[in-house]
Amino acid sequence: MLKGRHLIDPMDFTLEELNEVFNLADQIIACPEEFAHTCEGKILATLFYEPSTRTRFSFEAAMLRLGGKVLGFSEPNSSSAAKGESVADTIRTVACYADIAVMRHPKEGAPKVASMYSDMPVINAGDGGHQHPTQTLTDLLTIKTVKKSLSNQTIGLCGDLKFGRTVHSLIKALSRYENNKFVLISPNELKIPDYIRREILQKNNIEFVEVERMEEVIDKLDILYMTRVQRERFFNEEDYIRLKDSYILDGEKMKLAKDDMIVLHPLPRVNEISYEVDLDPRACYFRQAKYGMFVRMALIAKLLGVK
Ligand code: NCD
Repeated sequence: MLKGRHLIDPMDFTLEELNEVFNLADQIIACPEEFAHTCEGKILATLFYEPSTRTRFSFEAAMLRLGGKVLGFSEPNSSSAAKGESVADTIRTVACYADIAVMRHPKEGAPKVASMYSDMPVINAGDGGHQHPTQTLTDLLTIKTVKKSLSNQTIGLCGDLKFGRTVHSLIKALSRYENNKFVLISPNELKIPDYIRREILQKNNIEFVEVERMEEVIDKLDILYMTRVQRERFFNEEDYIRLKDSYILDGEKMKLAKDDMIVLHPLPRVNEISYEVDLDPRACYFRQAKYGMFVRMALIAKLLGVK
């Protein structure tokens, strides 16, 4: 039963529960008008303490397309956070007005804390450099739809694997499906955190390699997941400037890749995929953004327990 649950970490749902969400998303994609009144009378609160385009808009669009209503802030300075209110107090207040809440916060664990004080479902829309489970739902639905399977894939993750929360969540989620292999492509300073390496990959005997050069490995990949260097999480600007253009996926590199490799990116892109790649049929990142809205429609409906 997903009704009334929170989604804070990608492992919060069982594989069966994930399938429930994906199946509903497929039904919505097939016939969106049938769901236009599903959430009538319900309110979604979006509490965004950090910038966002896709995540907030896709949640808001999702709720509006389900016939529900939306309130919230996209700027913590316009909420009582600016007066020093705690996340625990904010969520208890918002729970008086809304039926479900989505929270993005620069501090790791803030949405988790909110969920501990909330009777309404709380969804983590990104907490610092930690996790981003609904981007993972988006990524999984895209892979499942385009590659037809979430198993037996060689997944290259490239860029800022240290601070990239979408990467952490996606590795966790894909490690639960059979026979996936990971190729982790990053500068030495931006490798995955040790807890992902030890607790997820090594502990579950999952095959992975860590390399610095994309050209060495791109021909082996079924999926290439590009990410931007997370400027806002760096301690100093010089390091960011030195590392920001470590990888640029262009037409030349795409020639080395398999014909059926797909390129994903959570977006926003900065420089890491050149615009010419957008025309390559293997580039799936804008489709991915669209799946994000549908999977969030399914998630909201499931957590609210509406039919
Ligand atoms: C990602 C995020 O916020 O972590 N964006 C998103 O939600 N699609 C990726 C990023 O900001 O680089």
